[in-house]
Amino acid sequence: MRLAKFLASAGVASRRAAEELVRAGRVAVGGVPVTDPAHSVGESDAVTVDGAPARPERERVVYALNKPAGVLSTARDTHGRPTVVSLIDAAVRLYPVGRLDADTTGLILLTNDGQLAHRLTHPSFRVPKTYRALLARPPVREAALRALRAGVALEDGPTAPARVSRVSADTIELTITEGRKRQVRRMCEAVGHPVRQLERVKFGTLSLGALKPGQYRRLSEAAVERLSAAAPAARRGARSSSRAPRR
Ligand code: URA
Repeated sequence: MRLAKFLASAGVASRRAAEELVRAGRVAVGGVPVTDPAHSVGESDAVTVDGAPARPERERVVYALNKPAGVLSTARDTHGRPTVVSLIDAAVRLYPVGRLDADTTGLILLTNDGQLAHRLTHPSFRVPKTYRALLARPPVREAALRALRAGVALEDGPTAPARVSRVSADTIELTITEGRKRQVRRMCEAVGHPVRQLERVKFGTLSLGALKPGQYRRLSEAAVERLSAAAPAARRGARSSSRAPRR
């Protein structure tokens, strides 16, 4: 993009004023002064104005995808298997917000906003995620539901209390606020009902709704704000980490 446009999109000045800044010799690219406003720069170029860095603002995008079974929820796969990122036709680089197991279906979010992804997945923000699980060895009795609600002893420690409701003799809905590896599968197994199918139907304030497997939609800014409010500032005691937990 042209240098003047780069500066304008970084909020430094209007396009016209940015051209003047460049002509006045106050702008450098990679440490070298540039006086041509049409000079071509990329997003990764180090541009400075009077020595201070200028970066173009990136538009935040968030997509909701209904992940089909067999699709990986990593950004890319070294064995060329399909990933959630490869299903979305977006102009920006996207990252999955947490993970679902390859055989889990349902709602997964993707965004280019690393901070939002961190807040939605870090356990300290306790964003609720709801799963619908088809269980083996029905009927699922009240004692099993009570055990899931109270917390189950797993090898990596007891789970926090969960919201659990029975949908039918072999299907439950379970809401957890942690994000441990294969947590729902391990919880259900621990109460005697291995999971046969698992689908995430809700993430924070957002429901899967009518999205069919493989379908996705971009969230409106209002929907993103509602989601973000599900991880309110009061819970931002978490240490910042560049690696988000799994889900
Ligand atoms: N819990 C699981 O066991 N698997 C998932 O994919 C998500 C939550």
